Amino acid sequence: MKKQLDIVLGLQWGDEGKGKIVDSLAGRYPAVARFQGGPNAGHSLQFNGNNFVAKSLPSGIFRDGCVNVIGNGVVLDPQAFMKECKEAAKLGVDARERVLISRKTSLILPTHRHLDAAYESAAGKGKIGSTLRGIGPTYTDKAARVGLRVGDIMEPDFEEKWNKLKNRHLDIFKQLGYEYSPQADDAAYREAVDYLRTFRLINSEYFVNNWLDEKPMLAEGAQGTLLDVDHGSYPFVTSSNTTAGGACTGLGVAPGRVNRVYGIFKAYCTRVGSGPFPTELFDETGEKIRRTGHEFGAVTGRPRRTGWLDLVALKYAVIINGVTDLVMMKADCLDDFETIKVCTAYKVGGEITKEMPSETDAAIEPVYTEFKGWNTDLCGVTDESVLPKPFMDYVAFLEGELGVPIRMISLGPDRETIIER
Ligand code: IMO
Ligand code: MG
Repeated sequence: MKKQLDIVLGLQWGDEGKGKIVDSLAGRYPAVARFQGGPNAGHSLQFNGNNFVAKSLPSGIFRDGCVNVIGNGVVLDPQAFMKECKEAAKLGVDARERVLISRKTSLILPTHRHLDAAYESAAGKGKIGSTLRGIGPTYTDKAARVGLRVGDIMEPDFEEKWNKLKNRHLDIFKQLGYEYSPQADDAAYREAVDYLRTFRLINSEYFVNNWLDEKPMLAEGAQGTLLDVDHGSYPFVTSSNTTAGGACTGLGVAPGRVNRVYGIFKAYCTRVGSGPFPTELFDETGEKIRRTGHEFGAVTGRPRRTGWLDLVALKYAVIINGVTDLVMMKADCLDDFETIKVCTAYKVGGEITKEMPSETDAAIEPVYTEFKGWNTDLCGVTDESVLPKPFMDYVAFLEGELGVPIRMISLGPDRETIIER
């Protein structure tokens, strides 16, 4: 059994820059696979002056010769997917020639999107701040064993199955007092399902494992470790396993086949939606990070919450994922700070700890280590030897604390701007 599956995933609350790294790594892998999540993801790809936000499409989509797999662990919305494929077509790529979809991938229905909205508006202050893409309700139906899968669209009784599930949803709308007109989205959904039928559907476990006998594959995570349904800040999480184990279940690959695990983090933290964020900044510094880092949602456009790098949370993410290679993003957004802070411990109930509390509502006071800023414009740097000493000291400190080498440093959005160490 060859160890040929590498995994790349986010170590924070999503938006770490996974798209850029998968896109630059994709040149080395003949295949890229998504294993969880759905159109809640927004992976920004910048190449040859183009900008594309990959949502359901794996980030290898613009690499000639790269096979892109959508795994069984993903939730796919045919409407969002068709829209995205049409965008890709404008850039000269026919997704049908490059994408293979597991027959076991879960289908998002229009009523799942509405359920997401209905639950969020009923939750009041306890709302998750979801992306409203129907992610939670679709995974709920999967776990309840009533969901539909991509393979079902090829069956003659697809409409019947769809109606049966839709009726369950209509009952919930009634209970919640949510206005929904059943026919509203159906025609558009039918059209998108027809389009989906033109794709190559696969028995993905066999496809992926046969592939790995011959060639390597890169598994592309969506969201981040701290949004994992088991290990994140529950209930303020997404509904899938965003961590390394999710790549195994979401593709049907044995753990022993995993080779490298690339963990991506930003030199600061951001979060969209509700939930704990120990190092969050509410002042001008937070505002400056948001401005400099263009921290606005790629999917929903929402301003992201911002804060200093949190090494307690990052270490936790390194452990859970078995990270072998760290990738640091966007440190150039801190070029213009006199002092840079890094949280190295938490104070919880008067006690200093380096562990993340399991209670989501724990009152956490971050303990910071301060660094002198490098005050040098690093944007676009691709040569490590020109990096200033204060910056390299900062990198060495992070590596020491995390116990894993930072193998790549990205100091700018373009595909080519990357330092490999
Ligand atoms: P990428 O892949 C950042 C957040 C939402 C919300 C919570 C649950 O671009 O990093 P959901 O719609 O998944 O039920 O929302 O998770 N969230 C993300 N935050 N980046 C993402 O994806 C996210 N996908 C979901 O804001 O707090
Ligand atoms: Mg995003």
